[in-house]
Amino acid sequence: MKILSIETSCDETAAAVIEDGRRILSSVIHTQVEEHKLYGGVVPEIASRRHTESICGVTAAALEQAGLTVGETDAVAVTAAPGLIGAVLVGVNFAKGLALAAAKPLIPVHHIRGHVAANYLAHPELEPPFLALIVSGGHSHIVLVRDYCDYTVLGRTTDDAAGEAFDKAARSVGLPYPGGVALDALSHEGNPAAYPLPTPHAEGAFNFSFSGLKTAVINLAHNAAQKGEPLVAADLAASFCSHVSRILWEKTEQAARHFGCDRLVLAGGVSANSWLRRRAEEGCEKNGWQLFMPPLSLTGDNAAMIGAQAYYEYQAGHTAALSLNGLPTMEITEQF
Ligand code: KG4
Ligand code: ZN
Repeated sequence: MKILSIETSCDETAAAVIEDGRRILSSVIHTQVEEHKLYGGVVPEIASRRHTESICGVTAAALEQAGLTVGETDAVAVTAAPGLIGAVLVGVNFAKGLALAAAKPLIPVHHIRGHVAANYLAHPELEPPFLALIVSGGHSHIVLVRDYCDYTVLGRTTDDAAGEAFDKAARSVGLPYPGGVALDALSHEGNPAAYPLPTPHAEGAFNFSFSGLKTAVINLAHNAAQKGEPLVAADLAASFCSHVSRILWEKTEQAARHFGCDRLVLAGGVSANSWLRRRAEEGCEKNGWQLFMPPLSLTGDNAAMIGAQAYYEYQAGHTAALSLNGLPTMEITEQF
């Protein structure tokens, strides 16, 4: 089954063609990041307009690279939640038009389920059940994936998402939005023990809290300025990456032990973080657990992951009518 998939939930306009949920026939991503950088974050109005301009060309390119017409695909899938609503609606309406014109089933996909499914593209042997740490710009979840469409949230952030925390820390050392990748790169020149950082308390055994870290980083900068000492950006980057990756991994490890999981999956933009990847590798090796991580090409937003999840949603009968609407928020456990 060949699925044409579309993703427009944030600042990437993306389309892909995926076969049987596992094989990428094509994947095209047009990023708007350079424009949003000027404003220090994604400007929703601009994102929607750029999606509107790009979506036809990006989709045509994905079909061309796959060597197919829309008529030769079997279904149209689209991210229908969660995300910036104006941005989501561009993709949803475009997908509805395509599905209507080509008389194909329409498959709505939850963006965060898509992040998990990025792993199905890279690891043919991966099948549920497994435990997933999903860390992106908007989400930080520890989830039990019992089946392709059956999720139980074990833990989540009680305030900021991990990606937000990375971006804020990056900003405080003068790196442009979205600073996560640059902070990670800079960290390799720094000393991770240079700046001690607090671990904010979160209610609930497997929950996270990250908002206090922003204040801690700002305070470090103020204190250094008062003492006339320069803040060493590489040391702060290393301290921050080391600290946040430890918090993320420790909770994940505790949850895996508690629920008896021996198969772990990382997902989402922050799963590109080299500190987190190394901690997860070392932790899984120590415990004798299997670890699956998406390749760096599939950690960020893309449509291939949406097409992968769409295959399993379709198998479960989860198609939508042409009255489908986009949603700005939606629990990963909910069904469209
Ligand atoms: O999953 P994603 O592409 O978009 C959302 O669905 O939110 O995640 C984007 C987030 C941004 O906050 C970005 O800074 C962060 O992922 N990120 C990283 C790294 N690469 C991307 N954070 C830390 N280290 C990285 N290497
Ligand atoms: Zn995402």
